[in-house]
Amino acid sequence: MKQVGLEAIAFDIPEHYINLHDLALARGIDPAKFTKGLGQLEMAVATAAEDPVVLAIGAASRALRNFSIDPRSIGLLIVGTESSVDQSKALSSFLHEHLGLSSECRNFEVKHACYGAMAGVSMATDWILSGRARGKKALVVSADIARYGLLTPGEPTQGAGSVAMVISESPSLLSFHTERQGFYSKQVMDFWRPNYSKDAFADGHFSMECYLEALSSSYAMYAKTEMGMAKSFGAALYHAPFVKMAQKAHVRLWELSHGATCEAGSANLVQAKDDYERRVAPYLELNARVGNIYTGALFLSLLCYLEKAEKSAMPISLFSYGSGCVAEFSSMSLLKPLREFPGYEASVSLLAKRKKISIPEYEAIMGDCAKMDSNNFKPQQSFPLSRKLLYRGCVDHQRIYS
Ligand code: HMG
Repeated sequence: MKQVGLEAIAFDIPEHYINLHDLALARGIDPAKFTKGLGQLEMAVATAAEDPVVLAIGAASRALRNFSIDPRSIGLLIVGTESSVDQSKALSSFLHEHLGLSSECRNFEVKHACYGAMAGVSMATDWILSGRARGKKALVVSADIARYGLLTPGEPTQGAGSVAMVISESPSLLSFHTERQGFYSKQVMDFWRPNYSKDAFADGHFSMECYLEALSSSYAMYAKTEMGMAKSFGAALYHAPFVKMAQKAHVRLWELSHGATCEAGSANLVQAKDDYERRVAPYLELNARVGNIYTGALFLSLLCYLEKAEKSAMPISLFSYGSGCVAEFSSMSLLKPLREFPGYEASVSLLAKRKKISIPEYEAIMGDCAKMDSNNFKPQQSFPLSRKLLYRGCVDHQRIYS
């Protein structure tokens, strides 16, 4: 069977962030609840000039540039997002123009909560396997701004960012195990964002149950013949709305692959958590410092893995969850770690360029962003940005970028 996999990956994040310790103090909450209870340290804050289009273009241009990929080689562009800027026009069409992709390159937007980008990766893989790509590559981009609103339980689990990936039949980073996948779908009201609201609504504790049920079922389908196979993954990567969710997920996967339960205080739980420290925690550093970026959260962890992985690494697993809900369990093998690519910009250098803001400044940005999709809107200029491309506002019902 043809090899399909990842040829390029890059991300983009807003230029400002807050410290979750500061947020907890401002909300009268013990900071340990956010930093240890949820596992989050910092949270990316997008100004109104950094909308999902701007972030997506930032990540996609970086992926093409850093891996010297000719835009004319892209035959399919898919953007997975749940922060769409228009009900009809696809976010991908802004990228198509800005990246200078060929008019023969199809483009569209996919939505299923946080699963959108994984859906894109899966579709791109099938497109290449079918032979219809005829040597062309697919560009799959996740772009989201996660918002629950001020003073909500979801507030410390917000974030913003984009991850862009090139999928091709000449992969240099990862090769996908296309012969085995596990899926799960069920209609649940765990998390949603109605058309009239910029902020998402969540039944938070129920959403964690739905996530874990989706993990159990999709892993069962993935491992139909060999339930213990998760033991052989070198790393297990999860959709991480917050770091602690990945820990809960890994304890569940440990139970499934060992055919045992992890009761509170049990030796099994200690073993499962030790295993989490080895195979999961090292790859959640970006997630802890950026927050939930919805469709891109799993791929942020993948990028972190690709920065740290050893050459001889064993296969890895990926679990994607989209509320509502749908899930996919899949696996991949490492070809080459990111540090071996000369043009690669380490993620720490992007994080180091960010500016920390105070909680009142974050609240002012949230206020500005609440109006950003209305006609005649102009982003406030109070938070200068160094990036070149910005969302300038909406004039005559059209979004302006320059
Ligand atoms: P909450 O209910 O305020 O928090 O909000 P909690 O009371 O459950 O506490 C959180 C953790 O902190 C607990 O840890 C506490 O024990 C601990 P656990 O027991 O679960 O291990 N804790 C402390 N630890 C140390 N010191 C302390 C302290 N106090 C408490 N002093 C909740 C939490 C996640 C519900 C909320 O943030 C929320 O609603 N978030 C949004 C929903 C969400 O992220 N769901 C995740 C699963 S669904 C999903 O992943 C899909 C999603 O990405 C959307 C999509 O698909 O598009 C969300």
